[in-house]
Order: sequence, then C-alpha cells, then structure tokens
Amino acid sequence: METRRIGDIPVSAIGLGGMPMSIEGRPDEERSVRTIHAALDAGITLIDTADSYHIHADEVGHNESLIAEGLRSWGGDTSGVLVATKGGHLRPGDGSWTVDGSAAHLRKAVEDSLQRLGVEAIGLYQYHRPDNRVPYAESVGVLGELLDAGKIRMAGISNANPDQIREAQDVLGGRLVSVQNQYSPAFRSSQPELDLCAELGIAFLPWSPLGGIGSAGSLGSRFDAFQRIADLHHVSPQRVALAWELSQAPVVIPIPGASRPQSIEDSVLAVDLQLGPEELAELDAS
Ligand SMILES: NC(=O)c1ccc[n+]([C@@H]2O[C@H](COP(=O)([O-])OP(=O)(O)OC[C@H]3O[C@@H](n4cnc5c(N)ncnc54)[C@H](OP(=O)(O)O)[C@@H]3O)[C@@H](O)[C@H]2O)c1
Repeated sequence: METRRIGDIPVSAIGLGGMPMSIEGRPDEERSVRTIHAALDAGITLIDTADSYHIHADEVGHNESLIAEGLRSWGGDTSGVLVATKGGHLRPGDGSWTVDGSAAHLRKAVEDSLQRLGVEAIGLYQYHRPDNRVPYAESVGVLGELLDAGKIRMAGISNANPDQIREAQDVLGGRLVSVQNQYSPAFRSSQPELDLCAELGIAFLPWSPLGGIGSAGSLGSRFDAFQRIADLHHVSPQRVALAWELSQAPVVIPIPGASRPQSIEDSVLAVDLQLGPEELAELDAS
C-alpha cells in the first residue's frame, strides 16, 4: 500500500471517510462494522470521523463510537491506524448543521471525543469549520493548547481558505499538519488551498472526493472523461477520480466515504491505478 504523510506519520494514500455510516441514510451497525473491517483488511490506516456525524441530538459522536468499535473488534494490530476526528460543528437534531468555535466548546468536545475513541490522545484533531462569531486565531489557539497538553498528537483544520491556513500555521507555531477541504471532479474551487498545502508540505485531505454521498454513484454519467478513461482501464470512474486526485500533489490523501465494504474495497485500489500524462491533462481540463 502506498503511504503518504500526515505530519511525521505515514498513512495509506487513501483513507476511509466515516460520515455515510452515521448520518441520514446510514446502514445498520453490523454493515458499518463490516465496512470498517474491509477498509482495515485492505490496508487502510487513516480513518476520518467527527463528533458531528450523527442524526439525533442525543447521539453526538455516533461515528466516533462506531469507528472505535470497528477497530476494537477487527482482531488485527491497529496501532498504526490514525483516527482523525473533528470538533466545532454541531447537529441540533433537526437535520441542520451549526458551528461553535468557542474555546469552551472545543475543550469540552475534545474530552468527549477522547472518551468515545477510548484513547489517551487523539491522533489528529481538526477544527471542523470556521465560526464567524469567534476569531479564527482563538479557535485554532485551542488546538495549540491541546497539543501542549498532550491531548491531541497532531492538529489540522477544515473548510479553510488560504489566509486561514497561513494564520493557523502561525498560531500553531508551524505545527499545522493537515487541511481538509471539499475537492472532487465536481468541486475544484479548493485548488488554491491544495496548491498552498503542496507548497507548505501540509497534508491536503479532499472531502467528498467523489462528489458527496448522494452524487458519488453517478460520477461517471456526469463526467464523460472520467467514464471514458475508466472504461479504457476497466475500472470504476470513482477509482479514476481518486487516482486523479492523488496525482495533483504528493500531499493529497483522499478520504472517500463508504457504508458498504465493496465501495471502500474499490476505492482503495486507486493507489494502483497509473494514469498517463495525457489522461491526467484530459481530466484536468474536463
Ligand atoms: N470536513 C468536512 O466539512 C467534511 C464534509 C463532508 C465530508 N467529510 C468527510 O469526507 C468523507 C468523504 O465525503 P462523503 O462521504 O461526503 O462523500 P464521497 O466520499 O464523495 O462519497 C461517499 C459515497 O461514495 C460511495 N462510494 C465510495 N466509494 C465508491 C466507489 N469506489 N464506487 C462507487 N461508489 C463509491 C459510497 O457509497 P456507499 O455508501 O454505498 O458505500 C458513499 O456513500 C466523509 O465520509 C467525511 O469523513 C468532511
């Protein structure tokens, strides 16, 4: 399995996104655990989650608990698996998503995530989404405190623009290791953030790398070039999309979501798909 780095930690070049296993449309727990096991069996060593991946107000951290259970019940050595969680986003239970980037909220959220994940320190903690009511430096500053206190091993941010990436890097004294932004064939407007991460040597984790839960299945019918090249290589257009993302820069580590073992088993094979320069140019231009 090809590895890439988040900070000093090598992780599989394709991660598993946990969100489809915990929000609207989620499967039963048995299928979710099989999906997590399939990812681990395939050599995936990065799992992305968040405390806000749940539906009802009284089940905050549904996905974190599921990931912890999947790791516990797998049976293999999980010491090399990096679980990346996030805080600062909330779901009140009416289907909406809200934010709270206050220091008090983030400090409490980390304690709760530590409990659910059953670890002494969180491998990668990401500030989920900027809260305009709180200065960005204040929210990111909490990550610095948590690093100093040993409660999180690495700090990342999500849904950040280039100014916020630079500000976070400054606030954290150079300890920012990752940026997680939306990026897919359908959504390329995070290219400046991707390029900045490549320049700074910070991992860039594309979220919804296949276009999102409701659209991933129809990627090929919406993007002809991805379908055409998929047909040439006898692979899925989803696999082509992930291989194309991997080709953008060595810092890119896509985290495709899955709620079925077959989805992640197919996605992870993107690491072995070699696309030629002309194919990549065609996909870039499509
Ligand atoms: N930071 C943020 O604000 C943010 C926002 C959104 C998402 N995320 C993270 O990013 C992850 C990925 O995003 P996402 O889950 O929204 O969207 P996505 O990865 O673009 O699409 C997920 C869907 O793709 C399907 N899929 C996966 N691999 C496939 C394959 N090889 N062939 C066909 N279908 C495939 C899955 O279907 P099945 O369900 O049938 O397996 C899944 O429902 C999330 O899980 C979450 O961890 C972060």
